[in-house]
Amino acid sequence: MAMICARHGIDLQSVQPMDFDLRNQELALCLARQDVPYPIDREKASAYFEAAKAGLPFDVGTLSDEAVDLGSFRNAQHYNRYTREEHLSWACLIAEQQKTKHRYACQEYLDGESIFEIGGSVIPDFYLLNARIYQQTSWQLATVSMIIPAELFFTCHSRRFFPVTTFMRAIEQDYLQEPDIGHDVAGHVATFTIPAVAHVMRNHGVARNLIYEERDRRLERATSEEARQCIQKRADELLLYAERIYWFTVEFGLVMQQGQVRAFGAGILSSPGETVFSVNSPKPTRLLIDPSLDTDLLRLATTDYLISEFQKTYFVMERFDLLETITPERIVATANLASKLPHFSWRDIAPGDRVLNVGESAISTNEKYLRLMSNQLCDDCLTRASIRNLRLIVHGLDPSIDLQTTWRGPIAAIPEGLIAWFRDEDASHRFLQATKPLSF
Ligand SMILES: [Fe+2]
Repeated sequence: MAMICARHGIDLQSVQPMDFDLRNQELALCLARQDVPYPIDREKASAYFEAAKAGLPFDVGTLSDEAVDLGSFRNAQHYNRYTREEHLSWACLIAEQQKTKHRYACQEYLDGESIFEIGGSVIPDFYLLNARIYQQTSWQLATVSMIIPAELFFTCHSRRFFPVTTFMRAIEQDYLQEPDIGHDVAGHVATFTIPAVAHVMRNHGVARNLIYEERDRRLERATSEEARQCIQKRADELLLYAERIYWFTVEFGLVMQQGQVRAFGAGILSSPGETVFSVNSPKPTRLLIDPSLDTDLLRLATTDYLISEFQKTYFVMERFDLLETITPERIVATANLASKLPHFSWRDIAPGDRVLNVGESAISTNEKYLRLMSNQLCDDCLTRASIRNLRLIVHGLDPSIDLQTTWRGPIAAIPEGLIAWFRDEDASHRFLQATKPLSF
């Protein structure tokens, strides 16, 4: 432990959670605050405090009139069960974040972190953290045991609950696919204080509800199992495209601030390595984006990505307030349109893109197809996007869509010979067989 502390500049004495009684004293003071945007109702505060004082583990916030049923995913934070190693792992993550975020995170994130007091050297107590979040944003925490289904995740969003896990990553682990408390709290929670981010997260929840409602209406009328499967598949597809908009903004978004690129996505900020990479490295492509434009929102929804490594393309918003233009209705409409159009891989630069810099892994649309045609190795994302596009083109695009105005129109650039070859080959099988992780 001493060596780990020395490596990260941590005072081991500080990795000591506050005593239970002191924590409750602080909670009582917090709950009584009236100088906040959302003061807590007295009766709700009283019941909340009694639960904390009784030593009940925190599970779902009870400070608003909203509730959410987490079913079998419901979990609880047993604060006293965290080990010294787990607190130290948190301290290491925060220490590494401090080295990068003051240089690369947007100012609003830094402000949010200090308001919520999540920059300390021990894992935050959710009773206290949840109360602080509610007072600033009207959002609350809902404790879950693992990654939850997207449907439940976004139902939580529509009611202003943010699902958080309770486990902490291993000491010095920089990136992990499954979100832990480091990702959820050190990454996401501070961004709630940015009104545009909190707003768009709720809009994503409401958009999912619109998709589920339409799906359920159609399921009620379905007369065969095949029809039911088809309806479910269609809804899943729309959810996937809506998810991409969320991914490239809430999770991996960058924003321009005073002429500089800065990070605000939680997926970036919960990884000190990706914080530097996303803003400072010449490797990824950075594209300027205005989500108030339908074509730009569609660019996000039609871009495929992988979750297993740092992103190859980041989208940089001109300003935060543009996020507020992403309404539930626009998310659903964009997902619908995306389902009918060819897609980009995370290495593509498309016609019409406003390029801040071309990353080392960028690839032209044609090169992507030609790589597949010549049986060269491609990553999963390239393969998926290429096969989808070729299939779509072979089967015929929806003639009612004007590609030049709704999409970015490079379809004509795909060589006829390639399309003919795709018709002849059992291409998808062959491509998938050949797919292996590839770095270039
Ligand atoms: Fe996340």
